[in-house]
Amino acid sequence: MGLSDQVSELNTGSKIPLIGLGTGAPAYHFEQIKAAVAVALQVGYRHFDTASYYGSECALGAALTEAFQSGIVKREEVFVTTKLWGDEHDEPLAAINRSLKNLQLEYVDLYLIHWPLRLRKGYTLPPNEEDFLPLDIKSTWQGMEQCFELGLTKAIGLSNFSCKKIEDLLSYAKITPAVDQVEMHPFWQQKKLRDYCSKMKIQVCAWSPLGGPNTPWGSNVVMDNPLIKEIAHKHGKSIAQVVLRWGTEQGVCVLPKSFNKDRITENFQISGWCLDAEDHEQMSKLEQRKILRGEEWVNSTTSPYKTIEELWDGEI
Ligand code: A2P
Repeated sequence: MGLSDQVSELNTGSKIPLIGLGTGAPAYHFEQIKAAVAVALQVGYRHFDTASYYGSECALGAALTEAFQSGIVKREEVFVTTKLWGDEHDEPLAAINRSLKNLQLEYVDLYLIHWPLRLRKGYTLPPNEEDFLPLDIKSTWQGMEQCFELGLTKAIGLSNFSCKKIEDLLSYAKITPAVDQVEMHPFWQQKKLRDYCSKMKIQVCAWSPLGGPNTPWGSNVVMDNPLIKEIAHKHGKSIAQVVLRWGTEQGVCVLPKSFNKDRITENFQISGWCLDAEDHEQMSKLEQRKILRGEEWVNSTTSPYKTIEELWDGEI
């Protein structure tokens, strides 16, 4: 146990720990999330990922507040990310202030546009035709820039944006996004996006780095893979550890979600050993298939995306 030595530097100059605890889950239990965060802090995690949409901000905030009060960590030692949801695009400033209140923080370290999608207040999931509003990412990004300029967040970024969408945004952005947080794991390696982001000095972060086993949106394809199992056996590590280490060895920040003490601990133990060239070579040949494709964000009438290919600009 102990602190991970794996950190990366954002284009803002601040450091981001390459392993963070994800807190997005199908069911939200305040005490369970709060306890998981407390365990993670004890284990050494210093990066926590939430979103207004996840409903986990209050529990994360409560756990952090207790940890600050008891002196386990100082505010400046933890990296906290939250996200602007689809029905908040018209008001990033009000939205970040709500998130900060939930988190009991004066600033977050990173604030992301959760999806390139704008939804009306009172939308349902999956959205109906009337729930989609025309996209205006330029004005949303201006709101994000304002949040940064006011010091409410130390960095701003994107989530679920393709290379093409980042490129469009860079044509008018005053502030280059620091991060793009996307689905990434051995079965969706995001080679093109990683190359593009590395060129543009944008850090890639991986949500569902384990492929989301046993979740309504995910799949067990990563955790059940025989090749990864073999590599894990060779190194005396678990499959999850190999998958997460594989991610950080690509320079990507991984955000596994777990509310289970043993798995939270296991997932953090990815420092002090490494995969070899043969492991990388073999894993690079795994068949690619995005798991969460975003079908719910597509319709032929009101969504800005008439097809899945449009949503991902063909990068799928
Ligand atoms: P749990 O919270 O019970 O640990 P992802 O981060 O890829 O979306 O995956 C999240 C899912 O993976 C959760 O269902 C979580 O369940 C499970 N999980 C997290 N860590 C591990 C692990 N080390 N081994 C097996 N399953 C894990």
